[in-house]
Amino acid sequence: MELHAAIEELHDRCAIYTSAPIAARLLDLIGWTSNADLSQAVLLEPCAGEGSILLEGVRRLLYSFRSHGRIPSFGDLEPRIRSFELHPVAVATVRRLLRKLLIEESISPQFADQLVLEWVCERDFLLENPGRATHVAANPPYVRWKNVPAILASVYRENLPSVSTRGDLSVAFLNKMQEWASEGGSIAALTSDRWMFAQYGEAFLQDTKSRGWTITVADERPSDPFLKTVGAYSAIVLLTPSGSSAHQQSSNKREKAQAMQRDLLSRHGSLQEAGCTVRVGPALGAGRTFILDPEDISEVEDELVRPFLERKDLVGLAVDTARLRVIVPYDRQGALIDPLRWPGFRAWFNRRREVLSQRSQFREREQYWRTIDAVPALWSIGPKLLMPELCNKPFVTLDRTGGIPAHSIYAIWPGEWPVETLQRVLNSGLLEITAKAEAPALKQGWMRFYKRFLMRTPLPRWSSLSREDREGLSGETPREFERSFEGLFGFAPGTTSLS
Ligand SMILES: C[S@@+](CC[C@H](N)C(=O)[O-])C[C@H]1O[C@@H](n2cnc3c(N)ncnc32)[C@H](O)[C@@H]1O
Repeated sequence: MELHAAIEELHDRCAIYTSAPIAARLLDLIGWTSNADLSQAVLLEPCAGEGSILLEGVRRLLYSFRSHGRIPSFGDLEPRIRSFELHPVAVATVRRLLRKLLIEESISPQFADQLVLEWVCERDFLLENPGRATHVAANPPYVRWKNVPAILASVYRENLPSVSTRGDLSVAFLNKMQEWASEGGSIAALTSDRWMFAQYGEAFLQDTKSRGWTITVADERPSDPFLKTVGAYSAIVLLTPSGSSAHQQSSNKREKAQAMQRDLLSRHGSLQEAGCTVRVGPALGAGRTFILDPEDISEVEDELVRPFLERKDLVGLAVDTARLRVIVPYDRQGALIDPLRWPGFRAWFNRRREVLSQRSQFREREQYWRTIDAVPALWSIGPKLLMPELCNKPFVTLDRTGGIPAHSIYAIWPGEWPVETLQRVLNSGLLEITAKAEAPALKQGWMRFYKRFLMRTPLPRWSSLSREDREGLSGETPREFERSFEGLFGFAPGTTSLS
């Protein structure tokens, strides 16, 4: 299915717009009101639809300026609103309605045209780099992952943290909204009441709490939440980050890290431009069914059994032997196998038919024995560097086992860099700069990496370095390494002073 057909299908499934009283309630709950001083605030509406929440938010913004005795300029207004919408027809509608509202509120047509273009972005919110929002109000899509069109689901799984790609798409939205609001913003969302009680909801709630957020159910069953009548129940939830005294300090560090990152990227380029490849470990599905413990004897053919690495295996500089193994229905060339030709594998999955076929992704399909993600040939190519998605000190471990990592671990193939030198360089501060500049702030120094942050880690191409620098970086003695590293990146290894 092509992307535009997938967007159409997703929109059909989720375009259930918010009623006016509930849009007003969401905005009241986060304090986006006409009486408040909103002159420095930023409202995020992640999926604007036809603007139920957005239009009311803009109306309140204009009244707020007026009630504080100010006539706002374009420069005052433009940074105050950020909204996204994926569906082109909805984008055209909300822009038209917004323009009309602005003109009725005495904004000149020329400013109104510019504002609607800046305020409503026709882009996928889930794939955006988080900005900063002080207020977030939303009615995110409730769509079970198994009903998300496959082409979108696989991009999301590649790019979003695994805790947010389970159960329901609204969880991914909540997670991303938290990133926008991580510096003290508040979020009000009209969501399905179901996700909070389901198992995946529990995992997300725990993750959210561990990152220092408080979730309150402001209204368990709001009446008439939508413009049309639907079967699903909904709830209004309020998410607020715990007030942090360290907040200012951490935002200063972030600015410093961003300046360092900008400077190094402009001088050297990025890890992606240097030819490295980054992938997240494949999603398997069915809990630990595909994973073999050390004592398990497997009847499955050797070709389909590979080393498997979890977070707790990534200690120290290198993993030489893997504790666990994983069964993958893909051959070494990355092709999906035909189980008729693999009797051992067939016997294995026949005995696990119940648990494997219950997975929502495969319920109606014959290939219920598959892993959720494919396992392309790249996974057999080594060595590579591995890094957990969640960590409190960014650090890559060298994998010499040719292993397949869990879905919460990133792998970096070194391209033209010698892998041990790349590891040394990344661990000496470059990953830390990326983390501090880009990764959403979590509690107690924890960081969450995304593939795209990793790819934006500053790194020169190996072939662009002078022979002296190449020898220095690969040098035996710490002194040689330090000299070249500092010459290239402007700080001594391990001393970014961002911690
Ligand atoms: C439940 S409706 C809510 C619309 C509006 N916020 C409201 O409250 O009336 C969800 C909207 O999200 C849009 N949408 C779905 N996925 C999106 C994404 N990844 N990025 C931006 N918009 C998305 C859909 O096209 C749909 O219009």
